[in-house]
Amino acid sequence: MEITKYPEHLAIIMDGNGRWAKKQGLLRALGHEKGAQSVRQVLEYCVEHHIPYLTLYAFSTENWNRPQDEVSTLMKLFLKYIKNERKNMMKNKIRFFVSGRKNNVPEKLQKEIEKLEEETKNNDKITLNIAFNYGSRAEIVDAVNRIIKDGKENITEEDFSKYLYNDFPDPDLLIRTSGEMRISNFLLWQIAYSELYITDTLWPDFDEKEIDKAIESYNQRDRRFGGVKNV
Ligand code: FPP
Repeated sequence: MEITKYPEHLAIIMDGNGRWAKKQGLLRALGHEKGAQSVRQVLEYCVEHHIPYLTLYAFSTENWNRPQDEVSTLMKLFLKYIKNERKNMMKNKIRFFVSGRKNNVPEKLQKEIEKLEEETKNNDKITLNIAFNYGSRAEIVDAVNRIIKDGKENITEEDFSKYLYNDFPDPDLLIRTSGEMRISNFLLWQIAYSELYITDTLWPDFDEKEIDKAIESYNQRDRRFGGVKNV
């Protein structure tokens, strides 16, 4: 099928690293490492096809409940990714942004995040938004508290959106890998009218062909945003 439109904002719940590792008889950490390679492939795809916003769910506020060594593996992987991708981000004009709470994130990682956000802030081809230490309910509560602090009253939906962690357009397409039919506290406000695509493919196996399949499905969707077509 020919793809005629690409989403402006693609969001992904990257799930199944653990299951992928188990299937191969490997440690979960290796599943996450392979998952980081899929992150590179998807970002490359977005660069190639001019998809200006990519949001990836990398670590949720609930993921702190995982065994300490797995949490530590995920922190280290993210740090390594930041260090290794700096050059590529400058070369391809990718703006790096992290959405989430800053508390609990190891100081060294937090510093590197801020450094890369600063270095890439004028890059204008793609925004890579990593949801890290992210929870959508936390984001909404944080927004409400900032609104109260600012003494605002009678705010509109548009005003409210401005208090979220970023001002990016809402995702057009939300992909979830490895078959689970749930949202897991991800972008609850922003996905009101997003198209959903859930695949059984595990995140480490999610490659260019798999993204094509998701975008082909998106191309067949009839987006009405609550309205009626052709009246
Ligand atoms: C879900 O798989 C995946 C995560 C909780 C972490 C996602 C992290 C990466 C893809 C790698 C590093 C990220 C970046 C941005 C470099 P799971 O462990 O819940 O899988 P399971 O449900 O099969 O156990």
